[in-house]
Amino acid sequence: VIVETVQGEGGLNIARVEWLQALAELCRTRDILLIVDDVQMGCGRTGPFFSFEAAGIVPDIVTLSKSISGYGLPMALTLFRRELDVWTPGEYNGTFRGHNPAFVTATTALETYWDTELFSTDIADKGELIRSGLDEIADRYEGVSERGRGMAQGLKFADADRAGEVCRIAFDRGVLMETNQRTVRRGCQAASATDHLDRRSAGRLGRTGRFRCRHSRLIQRPDFRR
Ligand SMILES: Cc1ncc(COP(=O)(O)O)c(C=O)c1O
Repeated sequence: VIVETVQGEGGLNIARVEWLQALAELCRTRDILLIVDDVQMGCGRTGPFFSFEAAGIVPDIVTLSKSISGYGLPMALTLFRRELDVWTPGEYNGTFRGHNPAFVTATTALETYWDTELFSTDIADKGELIRSGLDEIADRYEGVSERGRGMAQGLKFADADRAGEVCRIAFDRGVLMETNQRTVRRGCQAASATDHLDRRSAGRLGRTGRFRCRHSRLIQRPDFRR
């Protein structure tokens, strides 16, 4: 069984902790390998290093990719329970398995960012900041709801065209966003600074101290199709 705990391209759908635990138990009793695809949601993007930590499950295989360092340089890892690892040296290969600088930055990130609980706590705090901004928009507009966890959050639109329109207008204004199904999201790095998130990714703190999201202003535009 291969599972994403939070679907990325699938529209930021979250698997419940109880569901993941039941799945892990099912796999264990039926002698099925449980593989967590943490390519998009691992390396702290949902808070903890592995996205499944809250469920307390131990998958047989975990895939990690994009960037292990958290910034740019592409690198992929596949973690196996030792007895399942049948690869011989050099056999496991791929286009983006990592080049030397990516190994160096990944090692440094693991040894520094992930040395204490601080980094994941910080991601959780930033996730709350993002959530409050997105919730505020979702409350204001019909057919819009907040999805996701940690840095992997976005807005789901009942009308898929509207999601595309938000992306298009954001692009015109220099903000790169993407649609996954009916969901719009901006890829935020786990290491994004809070003020960066606030000013450039999501918006700014208004006079009332409430989080105001730049995207809400997009939706308010008269030429924005409702
Ligand atoms: C959830 C998920 N799994 C796997 C992959 C493939 O990753 P890679 O290109 O590093 O093999 C992707 C790529 O976007 C992905 O989003």
